[in-house]
Amino acid sequence: MATTVCLLPGDGIGPEVTGAARRVIDAAGAGLDWIELDAGAGALERTGDVLPPATIAAIEKHRIALKGPLTTPIGKGFASVNVQLRKRFDLYAAVRPVRSMPGIRTRFENVEIVVIRENTEGLYSGIEHEVVPGVVESLKIATRVGCERIARFAFNYARERGRGKVTVFHKANIMKMSDGLFIECARRMHEECGQGIEYQELIIDNGCMQLVQNPAQFDVLLLENLYGDVISDLCAGLVGGLGVVPGANIGKDCAIFEAVHGSAPTIAGQNIANPLAVIMSGVMMLRHLGLHEPALRIKNAYNAVLTEGRADELTRDIGGQAGTSDFADSIIRRL
Ligand code: NAI
Repeated sequence: MATTVCLLPGDGIGPEVTGAARRVIDAAGAGLDWIELDAGAGALERTGDVLPPATIAAIEKHRIALKGPLTTPIGKGFASVNVQLRKRFDLYAAVRPVRSMPGIRTRFENVEIVVIRENTEGLYSGIEHEVVPGVVESLKIATRVGCERIARFAFNYARERGRGKVTVFHKANIMKMSDGLFIECARRMHEECGQGIEYQELIIDNGCMQLVQNPAQFDVLLLENLYGDVISDLCAGLVGGLGVVPGANIGKDCAIFEAVHGSAPTIAGQNIANPLAVIMSGVMMLRHLGLHEPALRIKNAYNAVLTEGRADELTRDIGGQAGTSDFADSIIRRL
């Protein structure tokens, strides 16, 4: 029986890149039934709701989605729909593999990092209020339950995939209680389920310096929410940019797959955005569903396109001149 998957095209470049990903996944013979759903700034204009009840109901029912980026207004307006979705479905673990890609020349080779980001707590929750005029507070939430489950996830992830090292970036020298709890839980989970895995802690400022100097020393990175957000983009910069880094938001019984990048409004609607990050997110989704054969076909196909490196087949962010849909067509031809 075909698996039903929710597709949220999203804002900005979202419809172009998710449309390309859907075509590639269908052409690979994954046999998915897609349900297209509205969310984000566009949904607000169309339906009066950033997260319409029909979207929530469909994700609740099918528990799996491929999502395009959603625009969040800066300094005003509605709260992030991404954050709402992650909290609503308790998608506590963001998993973002960052790899050197064939044919994409960058300053470094052999980058092979997986960023594991706590996705529901921390400063990123955006819980803020004005204490008195001119004074605001932003709350950083850390719970033992939240810190333990993300650390357990990271060590289990590392063990299941044969990875040798987990590094925590933190600022527990300053945020002694919140980041202190995060590393206390990471240490305990290392003892409980991290046998044979090397464990390292770095203060995040030093961690950033080491990442841009020698990224190959890192394997799995374990981070609280805001640090994970920032470090994901930094890591993307090491391997060719936001067009090539996929992601998954994983909960106990629900998962939403999405690229690390945002809605890129300045290049939206021009057929120039790189669809690869969403296609790779789709590959992660297929694996999650146990559809390993079409997943591998897609991976081999995009690796072939990248390795050949023809300018007329690659988008301009990775050195080519092709459009979003041309890049997808090139992958489909190699399936
Ligand atoms: P962004 O990730 O949209 O763009 C950053 C830079 O990368 C821009 O120069 C953009 O053109 C480029 N870029 C991003 N994706 C690309 C792709 N697939 N191909 C080629 N170039 C690409 O980040 P920005 O500009 O900070 O945010 C724009 C909007 O996206 C904001 O409203 C933000 O809140 C939202 N956003 C949503 C996310 C999500 O839905 N998960 C994640 C990050 C940002």
